[in-house]
Amino acid sequence: MFDEKYERIDRRSGTNFHYFLLLPCLVFFGFYSLFNHSVFEFSFTEQDIDPKKVVLDALETNLASNWSRKYTAEPHLAGTNYGLVKWTEEKFAEYGFDTTIDPYEIYVSYPNDHDLNLVNSSGDVIYKAPLKEDELKKDPTTKGNDTIPTFLGYAANGNVTAEYVYANYGTREDFDTLKENNVNVTGKIVIVRYGKIFRGLKVKFAQDNGAIGVLLYSDPGDDHGITPANGYKQYPHGPARQESSVQRGSVQFLGGIGSAPGDPTTPGYPSKPGAERQDPHASIGKIPALPISYREVKPILAKLNGQGKKIKGFEGELEGFKYYTGPNSNYTLNLYNDQIYNITTMWNVYGEIKGEKTDEVIIIGNHRDAWIKGGAGDPNSGSAVLLEVARALGELKKAGYKFKRTIVLHSYDGEEYGLLGSTEQGEFFADKYQREVIAYLNLDVAVSGKHFKLGSSPVLNKILLEIAKELVYPEEGVGSLYDHYVKAKGGEHIPTLGSGSDYTVYLEHLGIPSVDLGFQEGKEDPVYHYHSNYDSYYWISEFADKGFVYHNLAAKYLALLTLGISERELINFGLQDYSKGLLSYLNTTISRVPKEWLSKPIKLQECYDWSDSVYISKVTNGYYAPDRPHGTRSMMMKYTSNLKNKHTLETVIDHAFENLHSLHNSTLSFDAQTAYLQEKFEEPNQPFWQKIRLHYQIKYHNKYLQYFERNFLHSKGLHERPWFKHIIFASGRYTGYAGQNLPGLNEAIEDEDFDRFVRWLKIVSKTAKRVSKRLHN
Ligand SMILES: *[C@@H]1O[C@H](CO)[C@@H](O)[C@H](O)[C@H]1NC(C)=O
Ligand SMILES: *[C@@H]1O[C@H](CO)[C@@H](O)[C@H](O)[C@H]1NC(C)=O
Ligand SMILES: *[C@@H]1O[C@H](CO)[C@@H](O)[C@H](O)[C@H]1NC(C)=O
Ligand SMILES: *[C@@H]1O[C@H](CO)[C@@H](O)[C@H](O)[C@H]1NC(C)=O
Ligand SMILES: *[C@@H]1O[C@H](CO)[C@@H](O)[C@H](O)[C@H]1NC(C)=O
Ligand SMILES: *[C@@H]1O[C@H](CO)[C@@H](O)[C@H](O)[C@H]1NC(C)=O
Ligand SMILES: *[C@@H]1O[C@H](CO)[C@@H](O)[C@H](O)[C@H]1NC(C)=O
Ligand SMILES: *[C@@H]1O[C@H](CO)[C@@H](O)[C@H](O)[C@H]1NC(C)=O
Ligand SMILES: *[C@@H]1O[C@H](CO)[C@@H](O)[C@H](O)[C@H]1NC(C)=O
Repeated sequence: MFDEKYERIDRRSGTNFHYFLLLPCLVFFGFYSLFNHSVFEFSFTEQDIDPKKVVLDALETNLASNWSRKYTAEPHLAGTNYGLVKWTEEKFAEYGFDTTIDPYEIYVSYPNDHDLNLVNSSGDVIYKAPLKEDELKKDPTTKGNDTIPTFLGYAANGNVTAEYVYANYGTREDFDTLKENNVNVTGKIVIVRYGKIFRGLKVKFAQDNGAIGVLLYSDPGDDHGITPANGYKQYPHGPARQESSVQRGSVQFLGGIGSAPGDPTTPGYPSKPGAERQDPHASIGKIPALPISYREVKPILAKLNGQGKKIKGFEGELEGFKYYTGPNSNYTLNLYNDQIYNITTMWNVYGEIKGEKTDEVIIIGNHRDAWIKGGAGDPNSGSAVLLEVARALGELKKAGYKFKRTIVLHSYDGEEYGLLGSTEQGEFFADKYQREVIAYLNLDVAVSGKHFKLGSSPVLNKILLEIAKELVYPEEGVGSLYDHYVKAKGGEHIPTLGSGSDYTVYLEHLGIPSVDLGFQEGKEDPVYHYHSNYDSYYWISEFADKGFVYHNLAAKYLALLTLGISERELINFGLQDYSKGLLSYLNTTISRVPKEWLSKPIKLQECYDWSDSVYISKVTNGYYAPDRPHGTRSMMMKYTSNLKNKHTLETVIDHAFENLHSLHNSTLSFDAQTAYLQEKFEEPNQPFWQKIRLHYQIKYHNKYLQYFERNFLHSKGLHERPWFKHIIFASGRYTGYAGQNLPGLNEAIEDEDFDRFVRWLKIVSKTAKRVSKRLHN
């Protein structure tokens, strides 16, 4: 049961708004303000300041290393270290931002006790895992009594003893493979290696298959050959993984079936005091789980040698055994996990510089919490870059520059446990964000290597590539950041987003164009000790980014990107990249459709689902409130009568392509109009009346750009994942991190559900048609 608050938020955040109907109203209010006051102040004033130059000059000084040192000096697990909250707020304030600390009351778990024993058939413990990473002389972060234990956030408490089975990566396919090989995991403890999919889903699949406990470990076979076996020394003596390193992390189910990110006790609504709490087990597991190192897994997996099956594709690169599945009836594991579950306060920190257009906002976000005392890569390379961007924008403000749009910085708490801080605030401010936010720019791991990585909503592709052309890549002979990117990618392709970081609520729940960016390790770079004590200041300053030059480049890029979006008169989106993307996603999707589906007849009922009928929105009090249609029936008659009688899937697909092509056409002319208006705006010496007219044309046009992506939300959300509203982009329900384009269609193909496929095809097709029409008007 959802309370009233939830209903309200869900209804407004989730519906296929007709944002464009708002426009006449805007124009009206525009004229109102024209006669009222102050219209002459807007955007006519020429400023002498070159904003790009000011921020780039500011970033000639590089303080990233200072901020990295500060953030990684003390533990800052989610919901802890209020000192760092205050310090972050003070830095924002120092750089001229108006600040807020926004608390949420969130259900989490903290480590208390753990134990792992290998037991032989006489009941004797023959190996006791230390469950602790080594202290390293060279790396001060690894020492002292304040390091954070190895544990998995939201892993259930329990003390289980059972035979155990090795399940490769623990993907859905791996568990199916085990079944096909008659390896039964019911009642067993399952050992899986990290990689391929989000760890919480490994635990979910283990649980779904009847396992009673899970061990997760990092296999050197997933370290791109940077291994001791290949002659690389272990950290801190070389780039290979330290053998005692452990990846902590959350085992929340994230984007899995039936679950949602955020506080698992408040799905879809904010965790403010007094919020109704629900059973969290839709989004978290019931079986205990522990993370261990490869050194710890060795004696355990060795006992499975020759037992059970040896399955192709299951082999890692540890020596001394052959990765048999087991079980071995002579050995059991005793796995004990104890955590303190409680509702805890978490703090987001915000900083804002108001622009002239206060209803057009750009948010730059990064989380602050880390699994470990350090966290120099995850997330505090991002935090260092965020502060550098704050400093640079602060310089610009100090120079007297007036920003065109409002710029807001967010420092989130609790990302690591399941995007807690960002999701809860996104749910709390859903209305405001959908009304005001133009774009969300995400930093998480800003630097863990030298390879530039982008993920984005396609409306931002154009500007992302443009800005990359303006900066030089630090390695000699490479050229610009753009040159580096296209060379590494083999082209200009920018992937779409899945999940695993704070952009999720913005893009997939609220329909706000989002970007995720950072420099990642490539195959030849030092192994990144993700969520391990070795993700420390020493590691980042000695191995990943000597001199913090990639931090500095990330700050320059993000600062320029922010200005590129905030300071251009016309919102700098390319809609044609979006519609082109859509065509190609549909194309790819259709190539997966089983041949025999194509000629299947479509019944009218299947083709038109009443409950999904067209929404009409209206403007109430300057606010868009979606409404149930009146006149739906006539619209529906029109729709169905168009569909004649004998339709097969193939004809419906053709029709969908037609609608997508027509959307593409509309976006082409719309983009041309954007360019034309921008050009007009830049024309000097226009007569006064022309400027006024242009002002309203631009305002109107910008609203279309700002709300474009909102049109691709579906009120009911995805199949079995109602929190995920976006019909084009989602995280894979079986992968967690990886993006899934056109999720409704692709999931229906995976599930061999013809009717559902048709329904989603209709939703996508109809949306494209509607948006195309709106862009034309
Ligand atoms: C940054 O760190 C350097 C080296 O520790 C120090 O000299 C400098 O004063 C610091 N600057 C700021 C602004 O904290
Ligand atoms: C179990 O381990 C103990 C201690 O090492 C040993 O004495 C005992 O013989 C072992 N039992 C079996 C069945 O191997
Ligand atoms: C941890 O170490 C610090 C300094 O080394 C010491 O002051 C503190 O008492 C220790 N805390 C605990 C709980 O041992
Ligand atoms: C966990 O179970 C094992 C085996 O039954 C037992 O020896 C151990 O004492 C238990 N640990 C705790 C903390 O209850
Ligand atoms: C798997 O093991 C469980 C528990 O021992 C048992 O109940 C179940 O029948 C087994 N499944 C198969 C397919 O053998
Ligand atoms: C288990 O131990 C017994 C007695 O030591 C032995 O006979 C048997 O082969 C062992 N089973 C396995 C699977 O190793
Ligand atoms: C849980 O939180 C409440 C309120 O913050 C606190 O009073 C209580 O001590 C906490 N319980 C545990 C076990 O930490
Ligand atoms: C569509 O997919 C086919 C192969 O399935 C490919 O040949 C064609 O180039 C694709 N078209 C687009 C626009 O992506
Ligand atoms: C798109 O535009 C092209 C060129 O103007 C035109 O030939 C084509 O029919 C249009 N397609 C759709 C689906 O509107």
